[in-house]
Amino acid sequence: MSDIFKWNDEYLIGIDEIDEQHKRLFSIAATFEQAKTDSQSIKALMEVFRYTREHFTLEEEFMKKVNYPGYYEHEQEHETFIDELNDLVADFDNSLEERDKLIALLAHWVVDHICNSDHLISSFVDTKT
Ligand SMILES: [Fe+2]
Ligand SMILES: [Fe+2]
Repeated sequence: MSDIFKWNDEYLIGIDEIDEQHKRLFSIAATFEQAKTDSQSIKALMEVFRYTREHFTLEEEFMKKVNYPGYYEHEQEHETFIDELNDLVADFDNSLEERDKLIALLAHWVVDHICNSDHLISSFVDTKT
């Protein structure tokens, strides 16, 4: 088990409801990474998929609410991730290779996207208050 999906407070963006969901995403991704059996992996993967969509909906509504100027680009990033996730999930066989690909994809999205793109939303909100 690695520490890729271990939560660290430096990932906080400062918007409570979004931060709570990010923490949950980390925890679901960690559950996937630690899954031992095929059925545990598939279950965690389905939860990653379901919860990611729920999170993106909330985040997109939040961006609209605050008139975030980067809404369109940000929404496109979410779409791209869902597409890539869809492709991987479609023929996922829980082989080591497929697992590594999925973990890399999640690490990229869960960690990099939060630290970069999501962080820009709170920076924007901060400049308005
Ligand atoms: Fe997010
Ligand atoms: Fe986002």
